[in-house]
Amino acid sequence: MRLGVNIDHVATLRNARGGVHPDPVKASKLVEKAGADLIVVHLREDRRHIREEDIAKILRQIKIPLQLEIAPTKFMFNYSIKNNIKKVCVVPEKRKELTTEGGLDLKKNYKFLKSNIPMLLKNNIEVSLFLDPKIINVKLSKKLGINAIEFHTGEFANAKADKEKKLYKKLKSVIDYAYSNKVSVRAGHGLTFNKVKKIVKIGSINELNIGHFIIGESIFYGLENVVKEMKHIMKKS
Ligand code: PXP
Repeated sequence: MRLGVNIDHVATLRNARGGVHPDPVKASKLVEKAGADLIVVHLREDRRHIREEDIAKILRQIKIPLQLEIAPTKFMFNYSIKNNIKKVCVVPEKRKELTTEGGLDLKKNYKFLKSNIPMLLKNNIEVSLFLDPKIINVKLSKKLGINAIEFHTGEFANAKADKEKKLYKKLKSVIDYAYSNKVSVRAGHGLTFNKVKKIVKIGSINELNIGHFIIGESIFYGLENVVKEMKHIMKKS
């Protein structure tokens, strides 16, 4: 199982002072050194964290793949093609949200995706969609010719003990369905050491993408240590 580390919040901290520190490129190098499998960044339309120049530097200085999270817009799709991005995950975006609060609304975005995804695929870009864990989303993705889905784990990650079992079962049944339909399954949002120990038991997940918790914990324990610990938990569980 691959670990993608989202380093957006290193840039959030940098941008809080408008300077150059802490540097997301330095963070990417440490994440790579610690054994992560990919660097993940979200180029938001408001550029509240990662910016184009960060992406250019990361691409030059990092050997592991970069996964770019983008909104379903012509600008972002063209940007990915022009900048030789190899992996994109299409995510919903709202100006006022604190984070990506739910999966992409496939019905609402179906027409745009149907006519624009082929352009990404033609340019050899691997495309995944960030979706709520629902069977209908797996079916619609297949209709779009998509074979990689990242399931939004926010509900499960935020659930307290009383609701967790039910949400775990719901997530597992959709993930198992997707996996049995030859979908490469990824998952992410709100994951912590504790939640990862539980979610990896599902078994059919190919990749976890984790940001906020890893960056937050690294204040106390150091970025390399936290990434190594996350990889360790993923391997042994
Ligand atoms: N995956 C996707 C597609 C996301 O949009 C996000 C949040 O930016 C994450 C994973 C990581 O979520 P978190 O920062 O809560 O770990």
